[in-house]
Amino acid sequence: MTEISEFIVRKDNLAEGRVETREAPPLKDGEVLAKVDRFALTANNVTYGVVGERIGYWKFFPLEKDGDGIIPVWGFADVIESKHPDVSVGERLYGYFPMASHLVMAPAKVKEKRLFDGAAHRADLPPVYNAYARVKAEAGYDKEMDDDRMVLYPLYATSYCLYDFMKDKGWFGAEQIIIPSASSKTAIGCAYAIAGDAAAPKLIGLTSSRNKKAVERLKLYKQVLAYGDLEKIDASVPSVIIDMSGNGEVLGSLHKHLGENMKYTSNVGLTHYDANEMGPDFIRERSEMFFAPGHIQKRTQEWGPGAFEKQAFQFWKDAAVKSRDWLIIRRENDADAVKRAWNAVYEGKTRPDTAWVVGF
Ligand SMILES: NC(=O)c1ccc[n+]([C@@H]2O[C@H](COP(=O)([O-])OP(=O)(O)OC[C@H]3O[C@@H](n4cnc5c(N)ncnc54)[C@H](OP(=O)(O)O)[C@@H]3O)[C@@H](O)[C@H]2O)c1
Repeated sequence: MTEISEFIVRKDNLAEGRVETREAPPLKDGEVLAKVDRFALTANNVTYGVVGERIGYWKFFPLEKDGDGIIPVWGFADVIESKHPDVSVGERLYGYFPMASHLVMAPAKVKEKRLFDGAAHRADLPPVYNAYARVKAEAGYDKEMDDDRMVLYPLYATSYCLYDFMKDKGWFGAEQIIIPSASSKTAIGCAYAIAGDAAAPKLIGLTSSRNKKAVERLKLYKQVLAYGDLEKIDASVPSVIIDMSGNGEVLGSLHKHLGENMKYTSNVGLTHYDANEMGPDFIRERSEMFFAPGHIQKRTQEWGPGAFEKQAFQFWKDAAVKSRDWLIIRRENDADAVKRAWNAVYEGKTRPDTAWVVGF
């Protein structure tokens, strides 16, 4: 009998995490048991927990005990048992998994390179999260890039969505782009996309003083400023903000400083999840939440299935190769490592040039 280990948090106190084990249930016809090989942990996963109730992230891997939740992660898994006619043992999948050792899945819409988890409780959730790549069928699949893919693909694909969205909107008429939490990987992905477009506006990165040097070393931002120096930003030119921080104080000060020249703010992230109260200076009417799966769905309707994802995949791959110049992947395997990595990411103690890849 297979034992499943799960890292469980309290939904109202993400700092409180514990590992529990249980027996894997017997598979029903049409189900498979996937062994989660390993998965990435970055601030993005903390955000899944912070907005879990509002956006529905707790619904992917529900637990019986009230108030308990499993944080979703991006990773790879191998099918070790199968009662599905088209999915064999040995199949390797990339996609959205629980912080756990195994997942029982109900493969649906099985195509050569992709399948969906058709579990009933996932039916109403965004398709981007329910889709799994059957990586062995992918042309040019390179196992050597698995770690890069689990860390960077979900983030850089979002960066590409943001670039595509902003470009489509003519950058809201802005002459400069400001990115708070510029040291985050999603921000760095945006910076790669913008660096590749000579027609894009000038890019300014805002970060904490402890991370300023690391951001400067990337040489992707025209200007890098610490949060305390945001008044040095030229307020006389129209500006857009792509915000990864969710920091109410930073955004309020920035909006006040830019005034009418704050043309648009895209609220993407919440890396500063404990400072997420927007004050009176925050300009709500020109600020909007950004949800990458929503943008992908929009492009799928406009361009047809797979067309946008193909572009985003190519972008991710190119940018991931460049990121090898600075990104350190910290790879550890066991229940303690999972807990340690979660605590380090949750408490913001992971250096910006480092990402965790862990597993049970
Ligand atoms: N809307 C969407 O569709 C979407 C999709 C993907 C990602 N995102 C969001 O984008 C954000 C960035 O994600 P990521 O995975 O790229 O982040 P990451 O690389 O793990 O970001 C690390 C950076 O976040 C800041 N940070 C992290 N923890 C912190 C803490 N506890 N206190 C203060 N600052 C902290 C620091 O940046 P600074 O010092 O520079 O502030 C740190 O260098 C997340 O909120 C994520 O959810 C949104």
